[in-house]
Amino acid sequence: MSKKLFSRYSLGALALPNRVVMAPMNRNRASDSHLAPTTMTARYYAQRASAGLIIAEGTPVSPQARGCARTPGIYSAAQIAGWQNVTRAVHREGGRIYLQLWHVGRVGHCSLRADGSPPVGPSTIGLHNDRVPILAGSRDPVLVPCDPPRALTTDEVKEIVGDFARAAGNAMAAGFDGVEIHAANGYLFDQFRCPYLNDRSDEYGGATRERWRFLLDTAAAVADTVGKERVGVRISPLGTAHEMQSDPAPLFTYGYLACQLDRLGIGYLHVYDQSGSWMHDPQSELLQHLRACYSKTMILCGGFDRQRAEAALQADSGDLIAFGKHFIANPDLVERLQIGASLNPWDSATIYKGGARGYIDYPSLEEEAVSET
Ligand SMILES: Cc1cc2nc3c(=O)[nH]c(=O)nc-3n(C[C@H](O)[C@H](O)[C@H](O)COP(=O)(O)O)c2cc1C
Repeated sequence: MSKKLFSRYSLGALALPNRVVMAPMNRNRASDSHLAPTTMTARYYAQRASAGLIIAEGTPVSPQARGCARTPGIYSAAQIAGWQNVTRAVHREGGRIYLQLWHVGRVGHCSLRADGSPPVGPSTIGLHNDRVPILAGSRDPVLVPCDPPRALTTDEVKEIVGDFARAAGNAMAAGFDGVEIHAANGYLFDQFRCPYLNDRSDEYGGATRERWRFLLDTAAAVADTVGKERVGVRISPLGTAHEMQSDPAPLFTYGYLACQLDRLGIGYLHVYDQSGSWMHDPQSELLQHLRACYSKTMILCGGFDRQRAEAALQADSGDLIAFGKHFIANPDLVERLQIGASLNPWDSATIYKGGARGYIDYPSLEEEAVSET
């Protein structure tokens, strides 16, 4: 049977040489001066340019959107210039790269903003045990409990829609091929979706369609700015990261969203299964329902290896497969998957540590061969 994972795919006007996607992964290595990506970040992504598509890390759309130390933003001229170096480096290596646009919502800490303002959310309901990395005067980030959030006003919600549209425009100015809206993992849009957190009485709270309104308004505004084909949305149905509770009616909630995104005509829906379980069952009711509601490109992510990726594509559960941790440790993941080579293990100690170690020093097969001779 011919391997689908290594076959070409057209993502709108973008021709992908294979169906292996690098999942968005924050690595907390921005410059302290401007919170901008550095030359090391350009090297990191260029090393991984053989991916069919790179989705670069969750990137705050405004100072308010920040939730971790040293995440590069996309709201200042220095940050746009830093990302320009990244996209140039990836394109020079023949790759394609989107940027993930991010607002953390309630998952944050006052010290992450120059004005010391608290995190924001749909309501004042905060996290109990979750911790976020901050600098607090030290060189290395330290993990601290999240600060209690402030509830956004209706006008502020609309301003954030504008922040996403502006950030998307900045991303295009920086040379990205498209943008992904981060609506997964318990961050701002997921918080508005959640009936246990969203107790609002304005147009952004209430029934499912009201709770998704914020994301849908944002997707429409971003599509207006960059063109609908260049927009993706990432969701994590049934996910519990950042103290989320599973949705009480996932088929209806996510089916409604998928249908609305389909109507908007955005380029892709990126579905992340945090448990790495239901997504690998082609009979999964949720997966089949999403596939039926959304007619364009679907990216699947969560616990994939070569066999599982091929099986999902052969079963037509999705069109593209995103790999996370394997890409951290294997810059040439596509080639390794293609020839069935062993994969480097990833080092959890250096994931967010800063510096070159565990970032740009994982060897390719070629480098391994040279060091062996
Ligand atoms: C270090 C690290 C950082 C991550 N950062 C992000 C992020 O910025 N945005 C996002 O949507 N998911 C993020 N994720 C989740 C990954 O995109 C991916 O969904 C997850 O690793 C599961 O895929 P895997 O099983 O192939 O690793 C991150 C995961 C890791 C390990």
